[in-house]
Amino acid sequence: MKRQKRFEKLEKRPVHKDGFVQEWDDEGLVAMHSKNDPEPSVKVENGEITELDGKQKADFDLIDQYIAEYGINVDNAEKANAMDSNEIAKMLIDPNVSRTDVVKVTTALTPMKASDVINKLNFGEMIQAVQKMRPRRTPFTQAHVTNTLDNPVEIAADAAEAALRGFPELETTTAVARYAPMNAISIMVGSQAGRPGVITQCSVEEAVELGLGMRGFTAYAETISVYGTDKVFTDGDDTPWSKGFLASCYASRGLKMRFSSGSGSEVLMGYTEGKSMLYLESRCIYITKASGVQGLQNGSVSCIGIPGAVPSGIREVLGENLMCMMMDLECASSNDQTFSHSDIRRTARMLGQFIAGTDYISSGYAAEENSDNTFAGSNMDVLDYDDYETLERDLCVNGSILPITEEQSIKIRNKGAKAIQAVFDGLGLPAISDEEVEAATYGSTSGDMPKRDMIQDMKAAQDLMDRGITVSDVIRALAEHGIDDTAQAVFKLAQQKICGDYLQTSAIFDKDWNCISAINDRNDYQGPGTGYRVWEHKEQWDKIKNIPWALDPQKVEF
Ligand code: 5AD
Ligand code: CA
Repeated sequence: MKRQKRFEKLEKRPVHKDGFVQEWDDEGLVAMHSKNDPEPSVKVENGEITELDGKQKADFDLIDQYIAEYGINVDNAEKANAMDSNEIAKMLIDPNVSRTDVVKVTTALTPMKASDVINKLNFGEMIQAVQKMRPRRTPFTQAHVTNTLDNPVEIAADAAEAALRGFPELETTTAVARYAPMNAISIMVGSQAGRPGVITQCSVEEAVELGLGMRGFTAYAETISVYGTDKVFTDGDDTPWSKGFLASCYASRGLKMRFSSGSGSEVLMGYTEGKSMLYLESRCIYITKASGVQGLQNGSVSCIGIPGAVPSGIREVLGENLMCMMMDLECASSNDQTFSHSDIRRTARMLGQFIAGTDYISSGYAAEENSDNTFAGSNMDVLDYDDYETLERDLCVNGSILPITEEQSIKIRNKGAKAIQAVFDGLGLPAISDEEVEAATYGSTSGDMPKRDMIQDMKAAQDLMDRGITVSDVIRALAEHGIDDTAQAVFKLAQQKICGDYLQTSAIFDKDWNCISAINDRNDYQGPGTGYRVWEHKEQWDKIKNIPWALDPQKVEF
């Protein structure tokens, strides 16, 4: 065929490197509604749900049973589910209806009914609804801190910089599993050196992860995955009950935790029962609620390529974030995995959560270059900082990432690197040289770092576990090296697990260890003049306004 020149050029645009597919209901390749989705229904007998979304009690699968027993406000169920879905959808965006009143209805819906309500909203209405329904008034965000060599000095320096830029939560994982305790310690120490109050996690195999938390090396956990069909659950040797048990283990040690779920996981694992992504995700949200967990990381998360490939998929992703908030759960709203080669598309994907504000707009902004991100790359990374901060300034939105100067970055990275150098020395781990500290201070990726003996580091990581090292040893190491402020910060972090305030919904700490949560910073949005407006928070807005690359008209010489 003779080629049309404009089409030839269009085909070369980045968006054509992305994958797209037509809908296929029977394989669950459908975002918002499948022909196989059930009709919403509920029946309550003697205070017990005996019919749920078209199924009788005798036919309930494990997930139905769990949700029917623990996940729905039974008292209000028949009344709420009898309401017209459009009326409930209107309540979500009506400024005259308070969030508290909406939640009374939405926590009594069935998974299919909630899904039906989301289906009534367009993208703009979802933004309005998220603005009102997120539990915490002040929006924040979260970052990944990793590198492909599991270099501890680079982790500490990146964590320190991310903390200074404003992230209240930082998450690491490993390239090589055996590094887990070392990475967990590096991100914790680096972040406390950067700004006291940041909480950190290390996403690894569940038993190891819980163990790290119990030793005090982490302060929260989030990648406790739940799924929307029984088959996917049991394929991973889990059930809703085993996840509920795991959740209780974290709570029992004063560790904050949330579950993870998101559309597309059941498609990827091949067991969708032909249901829509939104309905299956709805079941995950109800499992979370049923487990008594305070929050959820959702919005497809690592599976974003799947909803991203089908019609209305990105709308579905914002819809599932909103549904999480409708259940009165903290929402860490994804934007944490690369899914598109197109800068236009990845920006648009983020805008819903960014404009509305969520508890954590991204549940993993890459605080390293994406090439070093062992979570497989995020929707935005460190090289997008200046664009992101400009967007905050342009739209007058608090995206929770603040501009810093090069001098500030150098100073704080150096502080983080020196703190982990001291801890390694104090714990008898393989030494961190001054040369490594210098490289982490001025470098951008693990490729800029002198090579470490990785075999020796891995052995030391195992040995540290065998020796029974805990957070007290980390605090002592810092104190003995005269790094008192960071020692104090790590100590305070450990104390918080005894106090437990930060187990409340949407909790984070500011630099003075004030706990900010949906209890004392409750979202009171009810239209203009209410809720969080960044221009009413002068300190934050001044920082966003004053990007270092804006000219000062008083100082420009003409
Ligand atoms: N469903 C469930 N869990 C998910 N995770 C990421 N995406 C999903 C999803 N759609 C969790 C997994 C993964 C970690 C990064 O987050 O546990 O290992
Ligand atoms: Ca995350």
